[in-house]
Amino acid sequence: MTTVRLNTTDPTTIDTGALVIGVHAGPDGIRPAAGAESVDQAFDGKLSATLTAMGLKGVPGEVAKIPTFGAITAPLLVTVGLGDVSEGDPGTDAGLEALRRAAGEATRALAGVESAALALPAATAAQVGAVALGGALGAYGFHRYLTNGQRKEPVGEITVLTSAEGAGEALEAAQTLAGGVTLTRDLVNTPPSDLWPARFAEIAEEYGARSGFTAEVLDEHALREGGYGGIVGVGQGSTNPPRLVRLAYSPAGASKTVAFVGKGITFDSGGLSLKPSASMDWMKSDMAGAAAVLGAMVSIAGLGLPVNVVGYLCLAENMPSGTAQRPSDVLKTFSGKTVEVLDTDAEGRLVLVDGIARAAQDQPDLIVDVATLTGAQIVALGWRVAGVMSNDDAVRDEVVATASSVGEATWGMPLPEELRKGLDSAVADIANVHPERMGGMLTAALFLREFVPDGIRWAHVDMAGPSFNKGEPYGYTPKGGTGAITRTLVELAGRYAE
Ligand code: BES
Ligand code: MN
Ligand code: ZN
Repeated sequence: MTTVRLNTTDPTTIDTGALVIGVHAGPDGIRPAAGAESVDQAFDGKLSATLTAMGLKGVPGEVAKIPTFGAITAPLLVTVGLGDVSEGDPGTDAGLEALRRAAGEATRALAGVESAALALPAATAAQVGAVALGGALGAYGFHRYLTNGQRKEPVGEITVLTSAEGAGEALEAAQTLAGGVTLTRDLVNTPPSDLWPARFAEIAEEYGARSGFTAEVLDEHALREGGYGGIVGVGQGSTNPPRLVRLAYSPAGASKTVAFVGKGITFDSGGLSLKPSASMDWMKSDMAGAAAVLGAMVSIAGLGLPVNVVGYLCLAENMPSGTAQRPSDVLKTFSGKTVEVLDTDAEGRLVLVDGIARAAQDQPDLIVDVATLTGAQIVALGWRVAGVMSNDDAVRDEVVATASSVGEATWGMPLPEELRKGLDSAVADIANVHPERMGGMLTAALFLREFVPDGIRWAHVDMAGPSFNKGEPYGYTPKGGTGAITRTLVELAGRYAE
């Protein structure tokens, strides 16, 4: 991860490879943002006119590189659009997200440059945190498998220019968050040939030992013994057997407990209900929920949040073979309930209900499960907005508001009672798919709800779309694994901290 530092030096005299300033789009045209005042003076107050002549607008996503010919110390001036966020706004959630995205656009555009200084609006600790986090996340690259000239090193060093009070703490927190998100992204991007359930569990143990939480791993034998029929059933078709990992972060004196449960299908072929080839290549990302849980635990422990957090990673590889589960098989899940498996491609819900039922035994104040659960989520909400469902409308709204406060897009979705009866099975307690394809995100959530004991507050986040960016990078979001919902989980834990 690219290191981020702080400096109070004036932007015109800082020794750096590139100086980044923000620009706003306003009714009177483009204008330099706070933090760029002395730079504008060094250009005789002509920045706005020059940028206008260049055809720039100051809209989000717009990045321009301008040679400085000695007008300031940095050889390169980079402008990045902040949109029409007015001077007063940058402290709001929307303003902070605009800052994160702009910082990310800038550092991504500076890949290959040795050092960059960010003179973006940074008058408050919150703004410093946003600039540092966006800058660090935008500099992300996944280069582990590149051996030829395509390899482009990220920007070498990032300096945030500020004299805000509390800037040091804000920077440190931002780096801790960026570390967790980076881990989530790396795991999602790692091909399934190098990330199978047992390997994922080892990585969780390594990070736990380093970050200060425990990791207890149940292997395929322990899972069978323990009655985890959902995870066992999904994993039995693969030569890479399944795992359930229980992570526990228990700081002294904490009284509340939150539980996170992540879907960790290290590859989803669909099983015997095989997927078409075209929808299979990105199913390496079907463990993004488990990755977000692990990434969040690393950040939570790093921040030292005073709250108990347990994380469950439900890990299996969904493969077709002579030992694979068959459509029409019946599983006995950890809750004791039986499930008729009508479609082996609806496997996420089978591993999750074992994790959820186990998490309920911890008597947490809240369970949140995170999963790349349905293609129907993408149909309903698109690539960038995750769906949130819950057995309690207030909990659902709390999760949506928490996500929004850290700049992650989610939307509350209903659990329509009339859809429940479609999950009735002739031979088992419940079937794993609904005969009606429409509303597939909702019927999947209704299935999960059946395994949440009464009195336990639970929310489900379906992030099939947001977890993996198949398109071009934007803001601080790269191609491939996005790290989605990692920061929402950290923020949720923070809200339960005393
Ligand atoms: N992992 C998929 C869901 C998915 C689809 C994630 C696209 C990311 C992108 C999940 O296991 C799945 O296959 N769901 C099925 C459920 C259906 C069989 C009821 C689906 O969405 O088609
Ligand atoms: Mn599937
Ligand atoms: Zn899946």
